Amino acid sequence: MDKIIIEGGRPLYGEVKISGAKNAALPLITATLLTPGWHVLHNVPDLRDTRTILALLESLGLVWERQGSTLRINSAGLIGFEASYELVKTMRASVLVLGPLLARLGRARVSLPGGCAIGARPIDFHLQGFKQMGAILTLEQGYVDAQVTGRLRGATIYFDIPSVTGTENILMAAATADGTTVIKNAAREPEVGNLVEMLTAMGARIEGSGTDRLVVHGVSDLQPAEVTTIPDRIEAGTYLIAAGAAGGDVTLTNCNPSHLPALLEKLRVIGFTIEEGAGTIRISRPPPVAGQGGVPLRSVDIKTQPYPGFATDLQAQIMALMTMTSGLSVITETIFENRFMHVAELKRMGADIRVDGHSAIIKGNGRLKGAQVMATDLRASASLVVAGLAAEGVTEISRIYHLERGYENLVDKLANLGAVIRKEKA
Ligand code: EPZ
Repeated sequence: MDKIIIEGGRPLYGEVKISGAKNAALPLITATLLTPGWHVLHNVPDLRDTRTILALLESLGLVWERQGSTLRINSAGLIGFEASYELVKTMRASVLVLGPLLARLGRARVSLPGGCAIGARPIDFHLQGFKQMGAILTLEQGYVDAQVTGRLRGATIYFDIPSVTGTENILMAAATADGTTVIKNAAREPEVGNLVEMLTAMGARIEGSGTDRLVVHGVSDLQPAEVTTIPDRIEAGTYLIAAGAAGGDVTLTNCNPSHLPALLEKLRVIGFTIEEGAGTIRISRPPPVAGQGGVPLRSVDIKTQPYPGFATDLQAQIMALMTMTSGLSVITETIFENRFMHVAELKRMGADIRVDGHSAIIKGNGRLKGAQVMATDLRASASLVVAGLAAEGVTEISRIYHLERGYENLVDKLANLGAVIRKEKA
């Protein structure tokens, strides 16, 4: 397995272009199942996860072609309705085929996604919603088999927790259902809004985008659409935190500052200068005050929340930064039950972190030290990259296939900012 080697302690300078959002592209790609014809998706990142979902759609009979970051997908040849365990276990987001397959074919057979490193991650909200819309679900050999005779029916669906892919699955199922569907306590993540934009372009009638109450008036048919994937706010947040940890002056381009409200405020409290522009965010650290050395980074408490709260997908990354601040920070993870896998690895680099239930107490103690560490999941891997950039000495990160799921050209992008980073065949 490949690994990444970083010689830390070098500040980052320059510009980095943010790619399209992985977590927006995945539902946009599965939405093409809803209707035949050539859909055109722009700004789609080329990642392990987007390649996985395209392989799944291909196995169902779809055809697609990529020109740069533009995908053209046609589901006219749709013949299959099964997502295999082999595919789903590598990427839980494969469950996003359930809603469109039920709507298009009245049938879907999808392996229940096993748990993953960060938690059990059930899909009971998705399944409950489909049942309310008239689907008959049976569970056998780890597969959920869903069927509906004729069209799905509109229903009022309440999510106990504002599930992102749960909201997306029900939206896709509701677009051509008979009647009106109301989703209460819906997820408000920008990626959901991007899907609403695509479904609307296809002819769906959806109200309440961006709010926690979505109303979908079912229509009888949809047309293929052209849509642009929103910028990846988690990739953007990761580079901001990396630039903060390594020091320097970095400008992100092709991003959307309004998608990172919580992170930008936290970085300002910690002590960074954050300048928001049209599609750009610049982070820098005030120069040392004469005779007083560098401005100390202030510790700050963080609590992950559904959007627009602090994103759980940036929790591991900002923890690496908090190890360098002065004082105690408390990070509370409220979304997933096991999202502190990066703590043990950061401690190998000298971090002083104690986990107590859903909270981690970080005692800022200056510089981390390079070490051999192991990636355990996508965002934990990103946390180790942030730590390696800031640490004294060399950091070796193994199992980097996790990283390649969600970060396009990460090594090149960081090297272009002045990092000494390379990928090696292990
Ligand atoms: C999406 O996952 C993202 N993935 C995750 O990003 C992200 O961490 C998560 O939303 C939260 O923002 C994609 O969009 C592909 P949820 P999702 O359903 O939809 C519980 C990354 O790193 N829940 O919003 O699977 C669940 O256990 C990934 O890019 C149920 O109990 O997350 C969790 O505690 C990681 N039953 C909470 O809700 C359900 O049916 C939020 O989960 C569904 C969810």
